[in-house]
Amino acid sequence: EKKAKQIMLEAHQLVAKLYHYVLTETPYGHEAMKYLQKRGISRQTIDEYGIGFAPDSWNFVTSFLQNRRFSLDLMVEAGLLAKSEAGKIFDRFRGRVIFPIHDSQGKVIAFGGRALDPSAPAKYLNSPESPLFSKSTTLFNLHRARPYIRKRKQALLFEGYVDVISVWQAGFPQGIATLGTALTEQQARMIRRNAESVVLLFDGDAAGQEATAKAINILQEAGVVVRIAPLPPGTDPDDYIRQHGAEAFSQQVLLQAMPVTAFRLKHLRDKHVIQDETDQKQFIEKAIELVNELDSPVERDLYLRQLAEEHSLTLEAIKWESRRLYKQQ
Ligand code: GTP
Ligand code: MN
Ligand code: MN
Ligand code: MN
Ligand code: MN
Repeated sequence: EKKAKQIMLEAHQLVAKLYHYVLTETPYGHEAMKYLQKRGISRQTIDEYGIGFAPDSWNFVTSFLQNRRFSLDLMVEAGLLAKSEAGKIFDRFRGRVIFPIHDSQGKVIAFGGRALDPSAPAKYLNSPESPLFSKSTTLFNLHRARPYIRKRKQALLFEGYVDVISVWQAGFPQGIATLGTALTEQQARMIRRNAESVVLLFDGDAAGQEATAKAINILQEAGVVVRIAPLPPGTDPDDYIRQHGAEAFSQQVLLQAMPVTAFRLKHLRDKHVIQDETDQKQFIEKAIELVNELDSPVERDLYLRQLAEEHSLTLEAIKWESRRLYKQQ
């Protein structure tokens, strides 16, 4: 007798093919095809990522699985179907563009579904946690990106899977994404096993900023060197590529990625209003405290020199202040 997990994997593989077929070969997929086209996602990308469409039906996948003699309760446990409180079993994904989510071996273990209808209660619906799928230990696209990440010793980390796909299509194959939750320690360790450094490319909004701050700490604790790429306020990497193209993305975003301390100093500068000498002194003290956290004396020296130049101070004054603040800790 086959193990339950094996059956769940088979079902995911079959249903992924079914969704892809519905999208690309049937009239039920027309609207979603137009939507993807409008977003600039090519037919080649649709095939490579196995993108699909779940028709707006309560029993399309349910009947499909039933006809193939799958236990429907097992399929509920696998997250493919849902069950009402009254015990009625129905399709979990309805009227959504489907993005298959793979494990690190490349097996489909879950789906992400994006609503076509902007008034849908949730823009994205992901598979629930199941014996196959744990959000905290899965990274979207890792199985495809791994060889490129290893070669460059660097990964690009995004917030959304559409960002990964859009950036992949523009010629950057080393992208991965979390699945709508904050980066976990396990994910950071998975990244460390494949890369020495990560470029963070979270959305240029408040949520993205907050997620960036948290991800930096988790990645650094896992021993990953972190850089943060600047994105214009209100845009995400997919928006950026569509507006400015791959060349600008490479030159203005990826190549402008900043080391953590530079990023934190910029953040401090952006939120600090300096109107008089008292404000300036306060800013410099906070900046020095950030620099003092660095282990490397060389790095500390580099940033202290920058601060001295930026504020037309002598390096001696800045270094004296640095020692004073260090002793105060
Ligand atoms: P688009 O609007 O399609 O471009 O989406 P996006 O990729 O820009 O997504 P967004 O920045 O809004 O969110 C980033 C990630 O958070 C998505 O890839 C999802 O994993 C997750 N997410 C966003 N909205 C929802 C939601 O309504 N429900 C759930 N469960 N996850 C969401
Ligand atoms: Mn295909
Ligand atoms: Mn966002
Ligand atoms: Mn986004
Ligand atoms: Mn987006």
